[in-house]
Amino acid sequence: MRILSGIQPTGRFHWGNYFGAIRQYIALQEDNEAYYFIANLHALTTVRDPEQLRQATLDSALDLLALGLDPEKATLFVQSDVPEVSELCWILMTGAPMGLLERCHAYKEKKAKGAPADAGLFTYPVLMAADILAYDANLVPVGEDQVQHIEVCRDLARSFNSHFGEVFVLPESHVLSESAKVPGTDGEKMSKSYRNTIELFEDPKSMRKKISRIATDSRPMDQPKDPESDHLYQLYSLFADTADREAMASTYRQGGFSYGMVKKTLADAADQFFAEARQRRAELANDPDRVHEILADGANRARRKAGEVLARAQQACGIRSL
Ligand code: TYM
Repeated sequence: MRILSGIQPTGRFHWGNYFGAIRQYIALQEDNEAYYFIANLHALTTVRDPEQLRQATLDSALDLLALGLDPEKATLFVQSDVPEVSELCWILMTGAPMGLLERCHAYKEKKAKGAPADAGLFTYPVLMAADILAYDANLVPVGEDQVQHIEVCRDLARSFNSHFGEVFVLPESHVLSESAKVPGTDGEKMSKSYRNTIELFEDPKSMRKKISRIATDSRPMDQPKDPESDHLYQLYSLFADTADREAMASTYRQGGFSYGMVKKTLADAADQFFAEARQRRAELANDPDRVHEILADGANRARRKAGEVLARAQQACGIRSL
């Protein structure tokens, strides 16, 4: 199978990114041809400070490598290092129905809030389609919020194929049901734009502080509680093995516990869970040249594949000779 996914360097990665997407990248790099990239062109729709974008791009690479993405097994690169994708994006833009893009939630939400939206945000799903189609990807591991964009990608590919011939592979999304939508500290979806995130490599003190502020209900301590409807429990479940998760669930059902205890257990589990990656990240950060080498090598490999697919699309629609 050919796997592809992208992640934006709009800030440091958080628990939602890891449990929804990054851990799938790492699992799927085994026994598959996997392409993973840092979506700096998409990030440009929100990050308008050049130094910040450069730094976040390097941080993203460090984070992914520290978490276990292996450049010997997967191709890791920066989106803008593969200009073929932007060319393919234009081809897909012609023939992309306005109505389809108007229904996409990123654009719709911003517009609903009265925020000014630019053409980059509006056509964001088309660039995403080009990202996916350029590598003949079969499977795209993501969190639930990206599923709509993959549907748009399929629509665009299907319509191109039916007009010009079978050029593109139709991709499927791959979502983990237990962490499709990781909640943030306020119980809404964890997201940088909602300011409710806990970062993967957050300073341990600040992580504990954020955990201590997770909203909980105000019923008396001794009352039994339903674990499944509590986002603190949902967060704890991400880190716990089956036995610990069941033990915590039965504590909830019995009642007579304090949320402070759950928060401490969660903070200890999170600390331990990312300790090794934190250590690896510190080592890698001392060798930025190595990281740039990995990204350059990844870009070369990615360009080879994207170049083939772009040529196929150009020939099919008549902008390149056969
Ligand atoms: P981005 O950068 O917002 O998020 C990266 C990945 O993290 C997942 N994710 C979550 N999963 C579960 N719970 C959450 N709270 C949560 N928050 C984020 C996202 O679903 C995503 O998988 N448009 C994409 C980047 C992109 C891309 C692509 C992805 C560009 N081109 C091609 C796949 C294929 C984005 O903004 O992801």
